[in-house]
Amino acid sequence: MLEKIEEATHYIIGKAKTTPKIGILLGTGLGGLVDRINIKASIPYEGIPNFPRSTVEGHMGNLVIGSLAEREVVVMQGRFHYYEGYSMQQVTFPIRVMNALGVRVLIISNAAGGLNPQFNPGDIMIITDHINLTGDNPLIGPNIDTLGPRFPDMSQPYTKNMVSLTEKVASDEKIHLQKGVYVGIMGPSLETAAETRFLRMIGADAVGMSTVPEVIVAVHSGMKVLGLSVISNLNLPDNLKPHSLEEIIVVANNAAPRLIKLIERVIQEVEID
Ligand code: HPA
Repeated sequence: MLEKIEEATHYIIGKAKTTPKIGILLGTGLGGLVDRINIKASIPYEGIPNFPRSTVEGHMGNLVIGSLAEREVVVMQGRFHYYEGYSMQQVTFPIRVMNALGVRVLIISNAAGGLNPQFNPGDIMIITDHINLTGDNPLIGPNIDTLGPRFPDMSQPYTKNMVSLTEKVASDEKIHLQKGVYVGIMGPSLETAAETRFLRMIGADAVGMSTVPEVIVAVHSGMKVLGLSVISNLNLPDNLKPHSLEEIIVVANNAAPRLIKLIERVIQEVEID
C-alpha cells in the first residue's frame, strides 16, 4: 500500500512540480470548477500508477493541479464509487495520494438526495456529520500506523471552523445554505419509500452513494474536511418520485456556479496549519 501511494505521488509530482496543501473532490455535475483554475497539469486518472478508472457517465477522470483564488490546489475531477465494483481501499486511494502530496485541507462535494422536507432541489447543504450505512469501511484490514491511528476519532469528522467559515462567506455572497447529516449508502439502486422513511428517522438530511469512505480516510490522515452536498432531488417517503441521472446532473449543473463561488471564497480564506 505505501509503495503504491509513493509510486502514484512520485508520478504526480513529476508532472505538476508542486505539492498543494488544499485538495478538492468534485462530485456529479460539479466538474465546472476546473474552468476557474489556472491549470499547471491535468493528469488523466488512467495514467497515474495504481489509480482505478472512472466509468460513470457525468464523471470525468482527471487530477487537476493548479491555482484557484491564488492558492495551489489539487482537484479530483470525478471520483470512484463503491457501487462500480471498486474496493473501499480503491475508492479512497486518491485521498491517500493527496495526503502524501501534502494536502491538509479537503473540500469534498457530491450530489445527494434530500430527505429533509424543508430542502429544495438545487440547495447546497454543508455536511455537519455523516452516517456510514455502506456496510463497509476503508480502514478494514491491518492498520498502517504511519498513515493514521487504528481507531480514528470520529467525534468531529467535518471541521467546525470550516463549517463556520463557509457560513460566513455564504452570507457575504448571499448564497443560501442548508446544514445537515449525510447518510452514505452502497447503491447503485435508489432508495425505496420505506428506506427513505428509515433514513429520515435515523437522523439523515441527505442521502448519497459517495463521500463517507473518502471522509473516513481524510480523518484517518488528519486532514481538515469540508463536505458540501448539492441537493439534486427531494425524496419524501409519502410522495416518492422517480429520478433520472440526467435530472440529477441538470440540477447539479445549475447549482454549480454557487458551489464554485463558495469553494473559491473558502479557499481564499482558509487557514492551513
Ligand atoms: N439517492 C441516493 N443517491 C443520490 C440521490 C438519491 O436520491 N440523488 C443523488 N445521489
